[in-house]
Amino acid sequence: MMETKLLTEHYDKDEYIGLDGYKKHGGYEVLKKALKMDPKAIIEEVKASGLRGRGGAGFPTGVKWGFLPDNGEPRYLLCNADEGEPGTFKDRAMMERAPHQLIEGMIISAFAVKSNKSYIYVRGEYQMCIRKLEKAIREAYDGGFLGKNILGSGFDHDMDVYSGAGAYICGEETGMISSLEGKKGQPKLKPPFPAVQGYLAKPTIVNNVETLAAVGPIIRDGAAAYRKHGTEKSAGTKLFSVSGNVKKPGVYEVPLGYPLIDLINVECGGLEPGRKLKAVIPGGSSAPVLTAEEAMKATMDYECLQGMGSMLGSGAVIVIDDTNCMVDMLKVIMHFYHHESCGQCTPCREGTGWLHKIVNSIVTGEGRLQDIDLMLRVSRQMMGKTICALSDAAAMPAISFVEKFRDEFEFYVREGRSKVKGSLHA
Ligand SMILES: Cc1cc2nc3c(=O)[nH]c(=O)nc-3n(C[C@H](O)[C@H](O)[C@H](O)COP(=O)(O)O)c2cc1C
Ligand code: SF4
Repeated sequence: MMETKLLTEHYDKDEYIGLDGYKKHGGYEVLKKALKMDPKAIIEEVKASGLRGRGGAGFPTGVKWGFLPDNGEPRYLLCNADEGEPGTFKDRAMMERAPHQLIEGMIISAFAVKSNKSYIYVRGEYQMCIRKLEKAIREAYDGGFLGKNILGSGFDHDMDVYSGAGAYICGEETGMISSLEGKKGQPKLKPPFPAVQGYLAKPTIVNNVETLAAVGPIIRDGAAAYRKHGTEKSAGTKLFSVSGNVKKPGVYEVPLGYPLIDLINVECGGLEPGRKLKAVIPGGSSAPVLTAEEAMKATMDYECLQGMGSMLGSGAVIVIDDTNCMVDMLKVIMHFYHHESCGQCTPCREGTGWLHKIVNSIVTGEGRLQDIDLMLRVSRQMMGKTICALSDAAAMPAISFVEKFRDEFEFYVREGRSKVKGSLHA
């Protein structure tokens, strides 16, 4: 099978980045169509399309939009472009190659949810995206697509870009809202959900870059056409960021339900000669790892990966061949979560630190066999008990690495070195 380029069709053309090139390829025509529709009909179309949030949790987008209370308060639309999940770089490609596509999707979404103000919260390291978005927003104002009385519709909308400052936790929606309000970027307990009480305590919709960009093709072609791609429960196409041991890492758009092994072998050109597939992390570092046997059977959709005890997450596929040591890899992942925990909740603050410490002790030759089960016990105590999902996101990979590759952990403890030939500490 080949890529299905519903969103990425023109990403190879430099002219698509600017307003003139974007318009040449049909840009802002969907907005013209949308502004003539009833906002409620747009929400119904998005619901009917089956679009699910591409930020990680896969929550149905139209349903989320329907949660906004009709209380006459101002509403905000926030685009989550924090993209902090290790292995994820598809939002970056979207913002760099097609900033107007995101802006158009956002204006349509804002019109649907009756919001006059939106922000794009971009991770601080993405300075190139920020520059391109700022330029595109200026062009959109000049072209009459933003500001007062857009295209004579009577709808007003203002949009701004906000730069994050390097914290993974600001990708969590309530942490992002706190950061945007100028406070410490720490998550808050839900409920209340942002749709009811979000930015400045007003009703707020938070959606991922890819989610908002997908609204354009849905309104252009209709929900039924969108549903022709993907599966019953996972409609549409999805951008996957593929990294690790493949010949051609990169961003690929395929229909949901696409076989993982085809993504690796067809789109990414397979592994280097002489290497064997060992494992795949299918949805970013928070997703439980799949063994090679599981990866061969997996399809890239919400239901299949959930059925295998993992998740689609942000669509970051990390391919691991037989020269990698799973213990060394888990050490890197645990360092990340320990560093990024905001520290509000004891199970997360202490648990991430403990996991990092234990796996580090194994790598430095000071581990004990009982530490392997201790890692499992600590991880299980970290799940479902905290303000946000970062704690679970750290525990899940730890459990899966230990359960599926226990022999590598035991060898490391016994021998004081890695079992894997060709790895750093063999
Ligand atoms: C620790 C943590 C980090 C997150 N980081 C991101 C992120 O970088 N980008 C993103 O879109 N969603 C991220 N999310 C999910 C958001 O909280 C939120 O669910 C999402 O932006 C909603 O958009 P969607 O419905 O379009 O997926 C993160 C969640 C957690 C718990
Ligand atoms: S789970 Fe971790 S990151 Fe999330 S609020 Fe609690 S301490 Fe902070």
